[in-house]
Amino acid sequence: MFDVARIRADFPALSCPVRGKSLVFLDSAASSQKPFPVLEAMERIYRQCYANVHRGIYAFSEEATLAYENARERVASFIHAPRREEIVFTRNTTEAINLVAYSWGRTNIRPGDRILLTQMEHHSNIVPWQLLAQEKGAELVYLPITDDGLLRMDLLDSLLDERVKLVAITMMSNVLGTINPVKEIVRKARAMGAVVLVDAAQSVPHMPVDVQDLDCDFLAFSGHKMCGPTGIGVLYGKASLLEAMPPFLGGGDMIRRVEWDSATWNDLPWKFEAGTPAFVEAIGLGAAVDYLSGIGMEKIAAHEREVTAYAMERLSALEGLTVIGPPAHQRGGVVAFTFRRIHPHDVAHMLDMEGIAVRAGHHCAQPLHRRLGLTATVRASFYIYNSPDEVDRLAQALEHIGQMLG
Ligand code: ALA
Repeated sequence: MFDVARIRADFPALSCPVRGKSLVFLDSAASSQKPFPVLEAMERIYRQCYANVHRGIYAFSEEATLAYENARERVASFIHAPRREEIVFTRNTTEAINLVAYSWGRTNIRPGDRILLTQMEHHSNIVPWQLLAQEKGAELVYLPITDDGLLRMDLLDSLLDERVKLVAITMMSNVLGTINPVKEIVRKARAMGAVVLVDAAQSVPHMPVDVQDLDCDFLAFSGHKMCGPTGIGVLYGKASLLEAMPPFLGGGDMIRRVEWDSATWNDLPWKFEAGTPAFVEAIGLGAAVDYLSGIGMEKIAAHEREVTAYAMERLSALEGLTVIGPPAHQRGGVVAFTFRRIHPHDVAHMLDMEGIAVRAGHHCAQPLHRRLGLTATVRASFYIYNSPDEVDRLAQALEHIGQMLG
């Protein structure tokens, strides 16, 4: 049995009252809460052995370096990366995608090349490619979605021609919740000689992800959405690609030797980690990975499926409420909706008065909202610590808002 009450006890912020009510936190797709083991792992470094990594020949620095590199090992095994050198620590998913766009993209994309995205991408998996395409004279092509928020897989073969050099797709939409058939897309794209980047910001925190099974070239995700701290993210890249790529940022630690007018580069992954890294945050992410693994990613995914299915049933039954996206069995723990003609910001504000935290707006996916004929939605998103009771609180509060506004 999935013991939500026990899990909730690990998250101190969840027991803080909000506006005199108990908090219902339904915004983990934006950023998750943090459990004690993560807070403690970071505090231990700051209190007991804080010193810069890779630089000091003394005990504190050696201990911090060991903990940092150990966190990398744990992240590698969490996503089943074959080699720890294939895990580059970045600030977040956005920086990881930008790293690929700047380093791989500016070396490999030429005029007339195509970059294939989907209509359900987050801005962070659109704008870096727009910048690249504008600079290189390349073209962006979008795999359309159905009105239900599923990819038009029937159109994939016709869009995947030899001009496509890169396919960049989300594994799970942060708005629709749709879980995409990434493995199939990778197989087809690689057969056409394209490189594939997977935006896994919404999937790695919530379900088992195996980069070897997916066979993707790059995969990006953030620590803060998976019980880890802010300021730490991950780029997984196949070593053969990372080896061939020029550095992204120049500075300390990413070099082997520096002359007055040139330099050579450090080994992977440090070639891509210029300057003092966010090593305390990486250690926090390592603790988050241990925490999630201790619960079990399969169990987490099953729990979220259950809560999401219940939320869809409860919310869809409310008069004037429309959930966007596919049925529960095709999505993860994200439920975005419109409610009557009430502006999503007003809905979110009124829910906040009841202690219920949701996100409202375009969720960094303006083109997707326009495709659906919307400017904004309200989004409830679920994680390990959410329960069906909280879905009831949300549904009751919405019902009340509906009555109040007639
Ligand atoms: N990408 C995050 C979200 O969907 C911030 O809310």
